Amino acid sequence: MGERPSLDLDRSQPLSAVVVGASGDLSMRKIFPALFALYCQDLLPREFHVVGFSRSQMGNDAFRGRIMEHLTCRYVPGEKCGELMDAFLARCTYVSGNYNSVDSFRQLHTELQHLDPQGRENRIFYMAIPPFLFLDVAHALADAGLVHRDGHGGWGRVVIEKPFGSDLASSNQLTESMAKVFTEDQTYRIDHYLGKEVIQNLMVLRFANLIFDPIWDRNCIHDVRISWMENLSLEGRAGYFDEYGIVRDVMQNHLLQMLALVAMEPPVALNSHYVRDEKVKALRCVAPLTLNDVVVGQYTAGAVEGHQHSGYREEEGVPAGSRTPTYAAAVLQIRNRRWDGVPFLIRAGKGLHTNMTEIRIRFHDVPGNIFRTSPDLLTANELVIRVQPNAAISFRIMNKVPGLGIKLAQSDLDLSYEAAFGGKIPDAYESLLLDVIKGDKSLFIRSDELAAAWQIFTPVLHELEARRVEPEKYTFGSEGPPAANALAARFNARW
Ligand code: BG6
Repeated sequence: MGERPSLDLDRSQPLSAVVVGASGDLSMRKIFPALFALYCQDLLPREFHVVGFSRSQMGNDAFRGRIMEHLTCRYVPGEKCGELMDAFLARCTYVSGNYNSVDSFRQLHTELQHLDPQGRENRIFYMAIPPFLFLDVAHALADAGLVHRDGHGGWGRVVIEKPFGSDLASSNQLTESMAKVFTEDQTYRIDHYLGKEVIQNLMVLRFANLIFDPIWDRNCIHDVRISWMENLSLEGRAGYFDEYGIVRDVMQNHLLQMLALVAMEPPVALNSHYVRDEKVKALRCVAPLTLNDVVVGQYTAGAVEGHQHSGYREEEGVPAGSRTPTYAAAVLQIRNRRWDGVPFLIRAGKGLHTNMTEIRIRFHDVPGNIFRTSPDLLTANELVIRVQPNAAISFRIMNKVPGLGIKLAQSDLDLSYEAAFGGKIPDAYESLLLDVIKGDKSLFIRSDELAAAWQIFTPVLHELEARRVEPEKYTFGSEGPPAANALAARFNARW
């Protein structure tokens, strides 16, 4: 099946979105609502079908009923929304089967042929399943004749979700094995953070505004801090989480992607090869982490907003005595001319006091500041990029307080997304699914990028495990382990 990247949406070509793992949480909460949102905005091909595949036995009606519970009328309020829901659901059908059974996928094939007897359609295979099933499903799809359709016109693209392996070796192995079925061109590795509005804005902010260009380096920037905090526990995902831990769950992917976008050089042009070339270059300059560069923690029982939570080790499904980190902080050094000596501090944790993701870029103190007579009041400039909640970009400056005499105070130049752009911020999955349909891979992880990311974290992950490092305890609802503050203080920084 030939891959024909087309950056404009061709609405005349039929499309089937096959969602493998259709009855699961990801499909119901994210994928179907995102497809519906695109449908409401008239962004899908005119002939469009969703085919759900998973083990649960159910008919089309039950499947549609389950999807409907998760659809919202965000884009089309009022009566029209109900009509659109009905029309969308009429395009959804379901096939139940086993993930490793070629026969089951033959049934899926029959369903697809029934929907498009001429076999002209494009197909997306969204693997909303645990990674250990990727290969089984890829092989079954190929054996059932779904991947290479000689003589037929449409393209086929596979979408997979992290974790892509659990270290460099296992990730390389997965990449190689998947490549036997789907080419790299056909493979869309999702990191949903790259679809978030504020994160997509990072390149615009940096490269469409002259003002940041001359100050974006070691001469002006003191440190960069990226924080990812959740006040939640495992939400029924103990089996997955205990095997992976916070470093593999969010640091190696979401946080590192944010770091790459802050650190990369401007791409030659806005196309997916050039953008990813620059991210790979930046990641390859990051020194692999050692134990000295990281802090790991694990939450104990505590309360958030009056709700009591049990400790990680007491959670259902977590093995007694588990050493899996639920928190990690690390300092990354980027050894290139732009960044040498600037600490990139990153931290991520579950069971904390708040739900928040942000990037803080602190600039150096003003040399020879003429206002140094009041040093307590002086603070360095800081650019804050708030990803969630309440997306915003603000810039901290020093200001004269209006009044007689000179009194200084810090104030913020503030861009709140809500105030500036209203409430309609698309969900990351809407944006990413549209890119899959268009064949734009800029926001998907290329295999060399994935390898570069694992290269940074693999040595320290192996060391933590080999030495059976005990994570520092922190109370659920707190700010995390105190050692993370000490790590930042080593670089004269504060979270
Ligand atoms: C996922 C992680 O990738 O991102 C989860 O596996 C985490 O552990 C989730 O909760 C957070 O996503 P968001 O979009 O809610 O910030």
